[in-house]
Amino acid sequence: MPLLEVRDLVTEFRSSGGTVRAVDGVSLTVEPGEILGLVGESGCGKSATCRSILQLFGGSQGRIVSGQVLLNGIGDLAKMTERQMQMVRGKEASFIFQDPLTALNPTMRVGRQISEGAERHLGLGRHAAHQLAVDLLREVHVPSPERRVDAWPHEFSGGLRQRVVIAMALAMQPRLIIADEPTTALDVTVQNQILRLLAERRQKHQTAIILVTHDLGVVSEICDRVAVMYAGRIVETGSVDEVLDNPTHPYTRALLAALPSAAMRGQPLIPIEGAPPSLVAPPPGCRFAPRCAFATDMCRQGLPPELAARGGQATGHLDACILGEGR
Ligand SMILES: Nc1ncnc2c1ncn2[C@@H]1O[C@H](COP(=O)(O)OP(=O)(O)OP(=O)(O)O)[C@@H](O)[C@H]1O
Ligand SMILES: [Mg+2]
Repeated sequence: MPLLEVRDLVTEFRSSGGTVRAVDGVSLTVEPGEILGLVGESGCGKSATCRSILQLFGGSQGRIVSGQVLLNGIGDLAKMTERQMQMVRGKEASFIFQDPLTALNPTMRVGRQISEGAERHLGLGRHAAHQLAVDLLREVHVPSPERRVDAWPHEFSGGLRQRVVIAMALAMQPRLIIADEPTTALDVTVQNQILRLLAERRQKHQTAIILVTHDLGVVSEICDRVAVMYAGRIVETGSVDEVLDNPTHPYTRALLAALPSAAMRGQPLIPIEGAPPSLVAPPPGCRFAPRCAFATDMCRQGLPPELAARGGQATGHLDACILGEGR
């Protein structure tokens, strides 16, 4: 039984240019203890998908139009009120934002920020909360946690701040962590340390993780499965080995060929020509068709294709190419 099952999720943002359908029929599952990578070009809807799961739209005009976000044992998060979501966030599922600076309150000591939610939700006393913060700082490998627990965010480097953000996300032992490009702002060494932390947590506590990244090298190192998004939809998904070693959708193939990373395995670097379509008025048919070397008239017409099995049902490898295996 999956921990999280997202079914046919549709999310829109109202903007001056019209209504942007940032997520257009996304379905995905995450099992306990599994790391699902979510990849795709900038603007394809990765963050919108993640924010929808926890209804974290901030001040933006985002809303879930339809679909379900089923969290095992809790129910459909898409139907919950803000008040109900406040009981879910942090405790059942937590979110790690890209930028550790904006995620921290500059006027609150780091220890307090880490334990605040646990104090409130779990009714921890002052002393227990302080101890929890020290333990979590130790768990995320912040040196001298007893001393550092009383520091202010500005006294920490970017890498240490992101560790604090992760400690905050771990504080109530959520079953799901959604990490939206948690390492983009950090240098490579720190990136690796942070990713190792997430992998450790999964190992020790069977925490499920959705990891948004631009880096297919990161996907190949720490994810179990991957979902590739294009223009608001998932175009290919499967185990990391299947999808990276044997990509079937032309977009995934192009993405793999274009990215200089360890996952490249010596393939030449080919930038994908053209730009993704508008999400205000997307063209009919397959949204990748205008950039696809294989596209036929069939691809340019009708509804966008649905995900279908590739390489046999049992592998869980799916892609949304109209041409299927006859390409
Ligand atoms: N608050 C908003 N108001 C209007 N449009 C938005 C808003 N947030 C996102 N969008 C639009 O929704 C689409 C998906 O954006 P999203 O941030 O989910 O992309 P992304 O895949 O996370 O990109 P990146 O890799 O750059 O983070 C884009 O077209 C974006 O312009
Ligand atoms: Mg994003």
